[in-house]
This record gives sequence, C-alpha cells and structure tokens, in this order.
Amino acid sequence: MKGDRINDPMTRILIVNPQAPEPELIAEAAGVIRAGGLVAFPTETVYGLGANALNAEAVAGIFTAKDRPSQDPLIVHLASVADLPQVVGDISEIARRLAEAFWPGPLTIIMPRHDDLPRGVSAGLDTVAVRVPSHPVARALLQAAGVPIAAPSANRFGFTSPTSAQHVYADLNGRIEMILDGGSPTIGVESTVLDVSVQPARILRPGGVSREALEEMLGTVEVFDGAAAEAEQPLPSPGMMSRHYAPRTPMILFQGTNTQAVLWRMREEAATYVRQGQRVGLLAAQEDLPVFAGVELTVRTIGSEADALQIARHLYAGLRDLDEAGMDVILAHDFGEEGLGLAILDRLRRASSRVVKVTSGE
Ligand code: TXA
Ligand code: MG
Repeated sequence: MKGDRINDPMTRILIVNPQAPEPELIAEAAGVIRAGGLVAFPTETVYGLGANALNAEAVAGIFTAKDRPSQDPLIVHLASVADLPQVVGDISEIARRLAEAFWPGPLTIIMPRHDDLPRGVSAGLDTVAVRVPSHPVARALLQAAGVPIAAPSANRFGFTSPTSAQHVYADLNGRIEMILDGGSPTIGVESTVLDVSVQPARILRPGGVSREALEEMLGTVEVFDGAAAEAEQPLPSPGMMSRHYAPRTPMILFQGTNTQAVLWRMREEAATYVRQGQRVGLLAAQEDLPVFAGVELTVRTIGSEADALQIARHLYAGLRDLDEAGMDVILAHDFGEEGLGLAILDRLRRASSRVVKVTSGE
C-alpha cells in the first residue's frame, strides 16, 4: 500500500457463507446500515453498495464513495414484495404480476416513487427503481436491517461492476465501512431494468432476466438503444450513457452472426497489432482459441460459447484482468442476442471504443 494512504480508515471484510449466512455477521452488517453506514454485499447479479434508502445522508454517502454523479438514480432493494408500499406510491397491476413472477430475482421495475423516499435515491425523478434480490446474503441483510436498501453496483463510477469482494476492495477500500464477502454472484451481469409505464414495456438495461422471459408474460417488449438515445433528451434512464462500463484499455468489439468469420477477422486484426509491437488482450470462449494459434496474445477465456450464463458470470472479471494486465488493446466478440447474450452484448458495447460489424462470408 502507498505510504500516503496508510492513515486512511480501512474497510472491514466479513467472510460469510453464501448459502447460509451466519446470523451474527449479518447482524453486524445490518447494524452498520441502520447507523447510516455503507456496506457492500453480494447479490445474484453483482456486488451492491448498500445504504439505508430512507436516510438521505446515508444515500448521499453512496454517491461520494463511488464518485457517482448525483443525477444517476439508484436501485432500491427490498426484503419482500410486501415492503413495496414503503418506497413506491402506486403499484400497477402489471408491476404486481411481474413482481410475483420474477421476484426474488434479477428484475428491476421502475415505479412511481413514494413521497417520503429521499429524493437523492432516484436523483430527483418521480419514479424509483425497485427489486427484491434472491441472493441469500442480500436477503438476510435486508431482513436484518429492517429497512429498504439503496444499492448501486459497488464499483467506482465508470468502471466495470464488481463480481468479487476483491473487486469491491480494489475500488472502494477506505471509502466504505464494510464488505460482506460471499463469493461469486451466479449471474455476473446486472439486473434487467424494465419500464412498464410505456406501452409496449421497455427494457432500459438488458440483464439477468431475458427479454424472452418477459415477453412470455407481456407480449412484445422493446429494448432501449443506449447509443441512439444519447441524442434523446431527457434520457429515460440517466445512468444509461453508452460508455458506462469502460475499461481503461481501448477495446474493440467484433460483432456478427457467423462466429468463424468473426474469429478470423479478429485474428487478422490481432496479428496486425502484434506486428506493430502492441500488446493485445483477447477476451474469448475456450472454443475460439485454435483460430488464434501462433498469434502472441494475452488471453482470458471466460467460458464456453454454448453457455451464456458461464460467459456472463466471468465477463467482468475477464475485463478487469485484461485491463490490469497493461494491454494496448483488448479484442472481444459478441455471444448473440438470445437470453443472457443480449445483456452480454450490451456490456461489451459499452466497454468498447469501437465496434466492428462482420458480415457473413467476409
Ligand atoms: O443487478 C443490479 O441491478 C445491481 C445490484 C446491486 O442490484 N445494481 C445496479 O445498480 O446495477 P446501478 O446503480 O449500477 O444501476 C442502476 C441502473 C442505472 O443505470 C440507473 O440509470 C437505472 O438503474 N435507474 C435507477 N432508477 C431509475 C429510474 N427511476 N428510472 C430509470 N432508470 C433508473
Ligand atoms: Mg453500476
């Protein structure tokens, strides 16, 4: 650790059993929340940075710790659907049906906010984003705290979301009171943010609940295009700027339906960079590797093409690793748009400084 940071207050890390969290550890964390402090905790998607949502000062602390602009609204986490009336003003029929079907789980629903909810939580909007997480540690913490917990992802603003306590520590040590270390989230990308105030309903951020699953219940569901909407004012979701999940290293995303064509194009481009003396990082599935044989790359494999959940789960760690490995450029490709593929594509796009569309047969 650097000498000038030696006097900083340290963040306590409590290691908890992710399946059966120890009540005494959860009670300690809940005490910190009730006292107005900040606790990072695992959810089934990514780690969240929690504060008592009913305490305006505690909520303000989240923005400070993350260096997050105050116009970027937070998600309020609840122990159960029965707590909704504490934070929302009105529960529409459709919101109730969605909550019943998808909670606890990775779906965030935008609803009209309760008048008593501190304005900072939803950045001055008339709506509030709400979800009931399914992770046992998150649920135990919410129950023990006895208050709704406002929690964005527990990373510094503009960085990839944390999928381990180490990621949280790297970003927020000394800025928050406590981290509950409950291992790796099972999903690895954030919740789906859904706006049901419009017809058809609109996904503001693709995530852990797929578009297909929502469409089974709602019929057609639109997906909000972050990049296109940058021109649209005001933004329907202020946190959706297209370069949100940005690694420091420039990243190029190769996108196309013909995987072999995509991979060969990547190989060509990688070889060109290597010839120029650049250090090239590759974020890939294990099946991709034979195509890159003989090219000098730093590779992070994040799973198998056939298993989008495995890819999602390792996506952010892979990005962080390559970012920290000191590459000049990172190359990645998409994993389709079905199921979790859509959320993976969204995050890769936001992390990229350039997208190369590869059409079949090229
Ligand atoms: O999986 C997740 O959702 C994680 C875990 C911790 O629950 N949380 C998370 O929070 O990703 P955050 O703050 O990183 O992302 C919340 C997103 C932001 O992009 C924000 O713009 C959007 O939700 N949001 C929050 N309130 C909103 C509102 N009232 N209207 C529209 N969008 C909103
Ligand atoms: Mg975030």
